[in-house]
Amino acid sequence: MQKRTSFMGVVLALVVLLVGTSSVFAQVQVTDCMGCHNDTTVITEKQTALSEAVHGTGEAFGRGTSAGCAGCHSGGAFSAMVAAGLTPDTVEAGDPNPTRQSCRACHQIHTGYTVADWALETTAPVALYAFENVTYDGGKGNLCANCHQPRRAIAAADADGNIAVTSTHWGPHHGPQSAMLLGTGGAGGVAGVPSFHYRLVGDTCVTCHIGADNGHTFEAVASSCDECHAEEDDIDGAQAAVAAQIAELGDLLIAKGLLDEAGHPVVGVYPAAQASALWNYIFISIEDGSSGAHNPPYTKALLDASIAALQ
Ligand code: HEC
Ligand code: HEC
Ligand code: HEC
Ligand code: HEC
Ligand code: HEC
Ligand code: HEC
Repeated sequence: MQKRTSFMGVVLALVVLLVGTSSVFAQVQVTDCMGCHNDTTVITEKQTALSEAVHGTGEAFGRGTSAGCAGCHSGGAFSAMVAAGLTPDTVEAGDPNPTRQSCRACHQIHTGYTVADWALETTAPVALYAFENVTYDGGKGNLCANCHQPRRAIAAADADGNIAVTSTHWGPHHGPQSAMLLGTGGAGGVAGVPSFHYRLVGDTCVTCHIGADNGHTFEAVASSCDECHAEEDDIDGAQAAVAAQIAELGDLLIAKGLLDEAGHPVVGVYPAAQASALWNYIFISIEDGSSGAHNPPYTKALLDASIAALQ
């Protein structure tokens, strides 16, 4: 009780302040605040989930101090980027006080001060900046695609047919899931098409990772598959088959000296087919992380071609 009283004290002080200082806020009523700040768990249940999710616990937000990383790694910089109509590659300054992917990064919290502020920060289609003319248009999942997109495509082979692996961080960068769903971003000339999961699952990422109950751990929600998959569909078996192929490819890459035992690329200049196989391994295994679920046929085609190139 004590806590609620002091919170409402803050709320009232803020409302008085806001009403006094700006005509925009002249409309704001304390009852608007109470649409969210009330005796339900509408906020706390999401805070609890987020406190167990990578978005709420991971350390990568610290990268948000650099301009090249801020748009995706700092929640505050992401909101500012969206408001300015910029993309992650055009953000000009780092965020000196980076934040995690919090409520404010994804929702329009405290912009209108009504329950309409649960609206997502953006759902506009996302032109993937590592490619030309590739746009992710997957409903509310577009929010996620802003950050979960590759930063790089693989370089073309040089005149000798080689591709240089330039650093131990070589590859498409973490979080290329949107490209995987679209059937692009792999290497070695393997053709891909947008996954049935991109074409048929309304709101894409949000449907599978948040689900009908609005869960906020952002892990894939098993019940979201039920709409299309019967119990006898062996989803685990399909993912296990992909995992086995990933392990086979990893062993081949280690044997050829392109990958070290810790799973990092080995810097060097390699025939294009071998470098492409390494790229695909990183893309699928380390970065996409869905064991094929995002785009089963494209994942399988990339693994088949990569394994064949090393045998
Ligand atoms: C759309 C729902 C919503 C509405 C409406 C809303 N808030 Fe909030 N408020 C939030 C959320 C979400 C947070 C952040 C919780 C977190 O960070 O975990 C928050 C945080 C706060 C905090 C804690 C400090 C901070 O900024 O994080 C205060 C104080 C606050 N709100 C006051 C208000 C007042 C006053 C109003 C009305 C003028 C209002 N809120 C309207 C959702 C809302
Ligand atoms: C502002 C950028 C941003 C947005 C928007 C965003 N993410 Fe993320 N996401 C990240 C970053 C950065 C990480 C890694 C955080 C860390 O490790 O500290 C991450 C991590 C994750 C993880 C955990 C991955 C792992 O390695 O365990 C999942 C799952 C995820 N995001 C799904 C989503 C979904 C689904 C959406 C849309 C509802 C979304 N994200 C929206 C930036 C974002
Ligand atoms: C286009 C958005 C985007 C940009 C720009 C970006 N990242 Fe990331 N980064 C992500 C996402 C999304 C994840 C989480 C992926 C996942 O866990 O699946 C991530 C994860 C990471 C991780 C955590 C990896 C791990 O395994 O825990 C590091 C470290 C990282 N990024 C470094 C950087 C650095 C350094 C920069 C700037 C030079 C940068 N990122 C720029 C989107 C981005
Ligand atoms: C990574 C992005 C992300 C983060 C972080 C996030 N949310 Fe959400 N949230 C979503 C998405 C996406 C939905 C589904 C929206 C929809 O279906 O319209 C959602 C739905 C919700 C809903 C239901 C909205 C409605 O219209 O009924 C509430 C409430 C909510 N979030 C609260 C929070 C709170 C509180 C926090 C912080 C503790 C938070 N969210 C953090 C992405 C996020
Ligand atoms: C058809 C449902 C579906 C769709 C659509 C979908 N995902 Fe996934 N996602 C999954 C499944 C299933 C996994 C694998 C989870 C597992 O095996 O534990 C996964 C894995 C992931 C991971 C790795 C999680 C980890 O623990 O490392 C991230 C990050 C992710 N998805 C983000 C996204 C983003 C971003 C989008 C949209 C661009 C998206 N997903 C669309 C079902 C989906
Ligand atoms: C809107 C419908 C829809 C939803 C929702 C959906 N899927 Fe699918 N999924 C499909 C279709 C269509 C196929 C292709 C079936 C075929 O080829 O016989 C498929 C195939 C798959 C495959 C490949 C199976 C194989 O044998 O290779 C996997 C794995 C998979 N889905 C996982 C999932 C997971 C996990 C979820 C939930 C997180 C999910 N799907 C949600 C429609 C859906």
